[in-house]
Order: sequence, then structure tokens, then C-alpha cells
Amino acid sequence: MRTSIVLSRCCMLGCLLTMPGLRAQPAVPAEPFHDGLRGTTPLDEEAKPPLIFPTENKDVIRGRAYAQQPPTIPHKIDGYQVDKNANRCLSCHARSRAAENDAVPIGVTHYANRAGETLGYVSPRRYFCTQCHVPQADAKPLVSNTFTDIEDIRVAPGPKPPATRKN
Ligand code: HEC
Ligand code: HEC
Repeated sequence: MRTSIVLSRCCMLGCLLTMPGLRAQPAVPAEPFHDGLRGTTPLDEEAKPPLIFPTENKDVIRGRAYAQQPPTIPHKIDGYQVDKNANRCLSCHARSRAAENDAVPIGVTHYANRAGETLGYVSPRRYFCTQCHVPQADAKPLVSNTFTDIEDIRVAPGPKPPATRKN
């Protein structure tokens, strides 16, 4: 009984959909579908997941894109424990440990609390390092970027800007 009702409803729906004028005309995109993440896989199909790119592990400090940017991590951090019991990052980056590990000591800002007072220990708000510092994948960017630093823009004619150190 129930199946026949369902079947007849399906039939009605089928008739409605095939009636001219009632079927919504799908807009045909002029360009073939392409998405940075999905590639050309249509939306109703599952894309093949790309391989996970290896972490860039060259140990070379990268430039920063702007003055207050948290520097990106130039080494692997796989398996480094950072929780309420231990902070592996600080075993090399704490000011007292940095020299012996040839690491960059954490900046003074990491000792300041939100009231601007400098503490004798890493401020709790700077404890979970990977909130701000991230390693980089050795991957091609998904979207291109044509950003040019103000220092690299030369407006001619006019006085040449003074030479500055590039960071
Ligand atoms: C075994 C020691 C060690 C540990 C543990 C370690 N680092 Fe490093 N880190 C270094 C060294 C040495 C450098 C200098 C560049 C290099 O050799 O990779 C560095 C560089 C960095 C830099 C770049 C600094 C700059 O000025 O550009 C950041 C950011 C950083 N580490 C964050 C972290 C974070 C976050 C963790 C924990 C998840 C961590 N590191 C764990 C040794 C360590
Ligand atoms: C809330 C964001 C934030 C957190 C959390 C944080 N940092 Fe930073 N870090 C920054 C910013 C922003 C800078 C760059 C400006 C500065 O020195 O404050 C920086 C700079 C650094 C530098 C480079 C210092 C220098 O003098 O060049 C190191 C190394 C570093 N952080 C390590 C760490 C480690 C290790 C932790 C975890 C214990 C950590 N940071 C937690 C934001 C953060």
C-alpha cells in the first residue's frame, strides 16, 4: 500500500518535471568547471585527495611578509608535545636554552601579559606556540599572488626611496 503511494507520487513528480516550462534551466557555465582544491572534479563527485605534502625542513629562516608577522617554522615539528604538561618548543627556544641549541630565543613580547606587564616566564597567552607559528608545506600555492612590497615599488619619475634592509 505504502509503496504504491510512493510510486504514484514519484510518477506525478516525474510528469511535472517533464512538462515544458516547469523544469528549471540549468545555467551552463561558459568556462569549464575548475576549483583550486577540487581541480576539474564535478561538484557531485568525490575528488581524489591530493598527497599530503612533506613539511619544508630546510632549517633556513624565512623572510617575513610584514613587521608583526609571527615567523613561520623552518623545521619539522612532528611529535613535539605542547600541552599543559610540557612544551617541547621551549626546550630549545626558551631564552635560557636557545644558545646551546642554536635556536632563536622567543621575543620579549612573549613575556608580556595583556596588561603590558613583563613577566618572568612565558605569558600564558603565548604558551601554545602553534596558535601563531606554523611549519610550511613544500607545495605549490593553490592561488597565485602578485603582492609587491612597498619597498619594491619604484614610482618613476621621482626621488628614489632610501635603501633599506630587507627583512
Ligand atoms: C631541537 C630544538 C628545537 C625545537 C624542539 C624547536 N625548535 Fe624551532 N628552531 C630551532 C632552530 C635551531 C631554529 C633555527 C632555524 C633552524 O635551524 O631550523 C628554529 C627556528 C624556529 C623559528 C623561526 C624563527 C625566526 O626568527 O624566523 C620558529 C618560529 C620556531 N623555530 C618555532 C618553533 C616551535 C613553535 C616549536 C615547537 C612546536 C619549535 N620551534 C621547536 C630549534 C628547535
Ligand atoms: C599569539 C601569537 C603567538 C604565540 C602564541 C607565540 N608567538 Fe612567537 N611570535 C609571535 C609574533 C607576532 C612574533 C614576531 C614579533 C615578536 O617578536 O613579537 C613572534 C616571534 C617569535 C620568534 C622570533 C623572535 C625573534 O626575535 O626573531 C620565535 C623564535 C618565536 N616567536 C617562538 C615562539 C614559541 C617557541 C612559542 C611558544 C612557546 C611562541 N613563539 C608563541 C607570535 C606568537
